[in-house]
Amino acid sequence: MSTLEAPDTAERDRKAEHIDLALEERIQLGANFFEEYYFEHQALPEIDLKEIDLATTFLNKRLRSPLLISCMTGGTEQATRINRNLAAAAEECGIAIGVGSQRKAIEDPSMVPSFQIRDQAPTVPLLANLGAVQLNYGFGLDECRAAVEMIDADALVFHLNPLQEALQPEGQCDFRNLIEQIGEIATRLDVPVIVKEIGCGIGAAAARGLKDAGIEIIDTAGLGGTSWARIEARRASEVDLGELFADWGVATPRSIRELREIGGLTVIGSGGVRSGVDVAKAIALGADLAGMAQPFLETASQSAELTVEKCHRTVRELKIAMFCAGAIDLPALQQVELQRRARG
Ligand code: FNR
Repeated sequence: MSTLEAPDTAERDRKAEHIDLALEERIQLGANFFEEYYFEHQALPEIDLKEIDLATTFLNKRLRSPLLISCMTGGTEQATRINRNLAAAAEECGIAIGVGSQRKAIEDPSMVPSFQIRDQAPTVPLLANLGAVQLNYGFGLDECRAAVEMIDADALVFHLNPLQEALQPEGQCDFRNLIEQIGEIATRLDVPVIVKEIGCGIGAAAARGLKDAGIEIIDTAGLGGTSWARIEARRASEVDLGELFADWGVATPRSIRELREIGGLTVIGSGGVRSGVDVAKAIALGADLAGMAQPFLETASQSAELTVEKCHRTVRELKIAMFCAGAIDLPALQQVELQRRARG
């Protein structure tokens, strides 16, 4: 292997490992924090199930359901197939979709086509993605613009991943001064900036800093689903370290509530959302949309059809939950008071 090929080969292996590991059951946290909440049953909902309306607007585009396929992948052949299946399903179902980190594609044009899914998803919101920490490793406004233009995106997502970087042998851990830089990019970019975590959640302090810097859309990507501590620790053969940090983070329901309390934010609830009932709970807790990554990875690694089915099934579960909670549309669902189970 020549030294020129080495970095790309390593990157392709890394992406493949991420996908393979994310599909393993043991990588999931195994604690669904949405289970701490339940809806009070409405025996007399006084609405017709078929009139339940899930439509909403996101990034000035109409969504048929309040769902987002969270940012995941790109850059390899396998990732190309997955992205195309995800995009076809997002378009068919009228939901939003993001791509995985485009960092390598900005440095290596051969990777660009695997992210370009606009032809498959011409009408739905499409999100570009970069790690915010890249702003401390040579990326600036030009690279952010390039990521958006590369895929004709409606917004740029910055992911925050300090725990993942700290556990990666190749991790980039200089997280200094990022709030200001994210805010600076947000004021100069032509499309909105969204900030998300990748499975450890965003708490009140970070969210307030982002809001003060001008960010209006935050995605919790909280604790409760895919564990990046486990993924990176497995890759580094440091399973003990992964377990130590597996439950580190802000649980998704709490993250949603903290973001909602700040006010004036569009909140995406994600991280361990695994059913339409979880989506309903996320929205009742204050989210505007709910995102799922791993469940869609599972279906899209097989086909677009299975991914559409997963989406339809989730929508059906959401509608049943809304029906039995007496909420005819999303604003009504946001008004529903969730009950909290007594512990122990
Ligand atoms: C991710 N995630 C992610 N997030 C991001 O912003 N940029 C990225 O490149 C990736 N890459 C990635 C790869 C794979 C294989 C998975 C499964 C996930 C994180 C993802 O968007 C999401 O925040 C977390 O996975 C938590 O959601 P789930 O999986 O619990 O629904």
